[in-house]
Amino acid sequence: QAQLQALAPMAPIHCFPVIDSTNQFLLERVNQARAGECCLAECQTAGRGRRGKPWISPFGCQLILSMYWRLEQGMAAAMGLSLAVGVAVVEALESLGYQGVELKWPNDLYYQGRKLAGILVEMSGSAGASCHLVIGVGLNLAMPAREGERIDQAWAELRHINPELVDRNQLAARVIERLQTAMQTFEQSGLGSFVDAWNRLDHFAGRPVRLLMGDLEVRGIARGIDDRGALRLETEEGIKFYLGGEISLRRG
Ligand code: BTN
Repeated sequence: QAQLQALAPMAPIHCFPVIDSTNQFLLERVNQARAGECCLAECQTAGRGRRGKPWISPFGCQLILSMYWRLEQGMAAAMGLSLAVGVAVVEALESLGYQGVELKWPNDLYYQGRKLAGILVEMSGSAGASCHLVIGVGLNLAMPAREGERIDQAWAELRHINPELVDRNQLAARVIERLQTAMQTFEQSGLGSFVDAWNRLDHFAGRPVRLLMGDLEVRGIARGIDDRGALRLETEEGIKFYLGGEISLRRG
């Protein structure tokens, strides 16, 4: 806690009404940014999602937040980071009274089987050196119905959990605080301290799923994650482990 208090006032928070992408803003500042530095926006014109997809962020409808961090141990140490980020964001929501939010491997927040938020971690750096991380979170607060045509999956909103939305500044502050603490923990001890919490929040735990990797499909029962953040899948040939990348997970 003492460390966090010393860190927070030094790390600037950049706020924009409109920006191309909050992740992009911080990626362009990696050489001068401080750990914990954040960028918030009301709207993105070129928001990015995972696997090269666009992230639709209409004005004032989401919490759009990115945070910069530097990992001295280098890129290899960042494995599983987005899972830790997912836990931190769910715990921020729980601390504000939003219950029932789950995680879908590798890093979506789900509410009642629909996507509530997405996480995109982008990195830069070279092998053997410290690496720059930009952690992006897009969390639906109240989306306009017309966006349905542009978004390719069913989504949930924070107002579905509680119609009396929490103050957005309070929400942003809580998510930033939890993310900073989570990053300090991750830096010191890696994913290990998040695994139990992740498995407790796992949307698919014990359920039949399909893993899609390009043209390849694997079916099995989801059995949570291991210490590396790999998805454990119980298949007819036994337990198999899958690390992130170009993989997507669907209900079986
Ligand atoms: C996904 O589920 O595909 C990840 C979505 C991540 C969206 C956030 S919004 C804030 C940050 N800026 C971006 O351009 N993307 C992330």
